[in-house]
Amino acid sequence: MSEWLECIACAHRYDELEVRYVCDACGGLLSLERDTFLDRNSFDDRRTSWAPIDQSGVWRFREAVVNLDRVITHPEGATRLYEREGLFFKHEGENPTGSFKDRGMTVAVTQAVRVGATAVACASTGNTSASLAAYAAQAKLPAIVFVPTGKVASGKLAQTLAYGATVLQVRGDFDDAMRLVREACDKLGIYLVNSINPFRIEGQKTILWELFQDLQWEAPDWIVVPAGNLGNTSAFGKAIREAFANGWIAKVPRLASIQAHGANPFFRGYRESFATRHRMSAETIASAIRIGDPVSWDKAVPAIRDTRGVVEEVTDDEIMSAKRAIDGMGIGCEPASAATLAGVRKLRASGVMKDGEQIVCVLTGNILKDPEANYRPENVREIDATVDAVEKVIPKP
Ligand code: F0G
Repeated sequence: MSEWLECIACAHRYDELEVRYVCDACGGLLSLERDTFLDRNSFDDRRTSWAPIDQSGVWRFREAVVNLDRVITHPEGATRLYEREGLFFKHEGENPTGSFKDRGMTVAVTQAVRVGATAVACASTGNTSASLAAYAAQAKLPAIVFVPTGKVASGKLAQTLAYGATVLQVRGDFDDAMRLVREACDKLGIYLVNSINPFRIEGQKTILWELFQDLQWEAPDWIVVPAGNLGNTSAFGKAIREAFANGWIAKVPRLASIQAHGANPFFRGYRESFATRHRMSAETIASAIRIGDPVSWDKAVPAIRDTRGVVEEVTDDEIMSAKRAIDGMGIGCEPASAATLAGVRKLRASGVMKDGEQIVCVLTGNILKDPEANYRPENVREIDATVDAVEKVIPKP
């Protein structure tokens, strides 16, 4: 079996051990491709294996991710699927560092070690940096993260620092940090692990493969995902394409990518059939997806087109109302993840999603990532230390 990097625009091929993120010939994004796959039964067999590599919800699919046996794994993945109030929630916030990023990071850091990288870096709204910091620590590689000053939720920053990464607070927004890290990595020979790195995408495909497995390989009607830098939307498109081409699933589920209204360049593009690539200055309470110039745009467009997918936008109020609903189910997530339920509410109201359709929301981050977003002052009471005082404030049946 062989694997290679291929330009999604001009199909030029490169060796998979080359350190590169875009095509030399045309500047297009690169994708990891291969010529053979396994039968899905072997993936099912591994679910009951004792080996850490098989217990990883990423490496269980290794022949279709990167075909390696020696990997930097926590292990990650193997997250739960919850059914609540007629909807399904795949909780990627149950990964080791509390977000779906671990699925891509185990692969990218494994590749970093494989190509002999001496340092790794990313730009981040917080979750990628926490994940990178953890996997770099495990691989004993120095990690440098570029974050927009003052725009990262405190749980994410605390994690990133605790795992030992060097944090560069960039004066500017995420898109400025992204531009800077790309240039710095090129000039300084640092290995870049943002989702422009095709190995990240390979790992993130397994969110859907594991979901299909959870559903005994019956694809749902809809898969709903929050969209920022568009790495996940791109990975989901590839995951569905490959699962269908290999006969692992018999039907193509539809993708719904949900953006925050104040950070909606992809939604703007979708409204005009992706005639132009939009860029904007982004603002939203969901800091994870406060992104105005998504790098994986060119991979995300076919992901939507090939799945008869849709892109929707939701307001910050709609996001926070959906978050309270998800938290109130006892599941919980960070604001960006709640964009999924907010999107479902809107798409049901407009008739795009129909009664009886099976819908899976992918919750991308843990409830503790953004502690400020959890504070509900109406639920807090300060009292004297007496039973009388307790009786006065407890809710009446
Ligand atoms: N949800 C969460 C919790 C995220 O952290 C991100 C992205 C997304 C959704 C959007 O995913 O970028 O693949 O479209 N966070 C990145 C980061 C940008 O740096 O942690 P995407």
